[in-house]
Amino acid sequence: MSALAAEHQAINLSQGFPDFEVDEKLISLIHQYFKKGMNQYAPMPGVINLREAIAEKCNNLYGVNINPETEITVTPGGTEAIFSAITSVIHPNDEVIIFEPAYDCYAPAIELSGGVPVYIELESPDFKVNWEAVKKRINHKTRMMIINTPHNPGGSIFSTDDMLQLQKIIDRSDIILLSDEVYEHIIFDDQKHESVLKYPKLVERSFAVYSFGKTFHATGWKVGYIIAPENLMKEFRKIHQFNVFSTNTPIQYALADYLKNADNYLYLPKFYEEKRNHFLEIIKDLPFHFVPTKGSYFQCVDYSKISDESDKDFAIRLTKEYGVAAVPVSAFYHRIKDNKLLRFCFAKKKQTLEQAAEKLRKLN
Ligand SMILES: Cc1ncc(COP(=O)(O)O)c(C=O)c1O
Repeated sequence: MSALAAEHQAINLSQGFPDFEVDEKLISLIHQYFKKGMNQYAPMPGVINLREAIAEKCNNLYGVNINPETEITVTPGGTEAIFSAITSVIHPNDEVIIFEPAYDCYAPAIELSGGVPVYIELESPDFKVNWEAVKKRINHKTRMMIINTPHNPGGSIFSTDDMLQLQKIIDRSDIILLSDEVYEHIIFDDQKHESVLKYPKLVERSFAVYSFGKTFHATGWKVGYIIAPENLMKEFRKIHQFNVFSTNTPIQYALADYLKNADNYLYLPKFYEEKRNHFLEIIKDLPFHFVPTKGSYFQCVDYSKISDESDKDFAIRLTKEYGVAAVPVSAFYHRIKDNKLLRFCFAKKKQTLEQAAEKLRKLN
């Protein structure tokens, strides 16, 4: 959709990336480390200063003690963390539970490892997990479950009750959790992010994945990290070492300094909440139906009052004829499932959102 948006000079609210600038302070820190000569390979698990800063952040936010030597690895983005985590523990015929709609990098990594994705649909219209349905799909072959909160594309979040139900369901099993928490700071209405790191019984069997690209408005840097108990991290590093070996050095040093000031990430929920509220305000008179997103920088809207075209056809027409690009939500299902939903990314300048809303007004 980004390519189509570029071809038709449409406003691109499809792919998930901000169109505003990274904090100048962070840019100049990176510049400093470039100039100081920190330009060679970083240690395989990541620069220790950064791992220590991450451990401190996890402690402040989730009250957990993470060992920076053995339980944290810095990765080239959340995607490499997810790929290496899956391939390090999934063997042929292992089953992995995925909730759909799902971010698109989970299933390919499972299949490359010979594993079998087991798809469970999130409930409409608010993308919640039906835990009774989950219980029925677990068997002796279930090796892993992948959760994602705040959720892309649905914008739903796990509640404390979800976490407790999850804990109860997997308590007496050997299931490994992969918790994709790349939107941990993008959560609204004073809700708190429910990380697996807050739950001692979950943390001991989880890979938890994070992305500095999402957190610091710099998706093009591809820097993230993964947290796991030592036994899982040992397996992870066996793959990570020969997959990429290490992650961009000067950016790691800069992030280590930048993370020391918690204000650099604590402002994010309010910052994005304002963007969500503004976006919802300017599209509220359009013939869309939506449940306000609770987390992530995506808003799904139902367009069935406007058209009965497939979501893909409608998204293409919206880009070409109205000049606004969105992602058809059917793209997040392994078998096309057309719920007449589009996903808009509102991580944009006020002006970009307003220009898009102006164009969309022609749908009325
Ligand atoms: C749910 C989810 N997980 C992981 C990623 C990948 O993060 P990164 O860009 O750090 O590789 C994304 C990026 O869009 C995402 O939406």
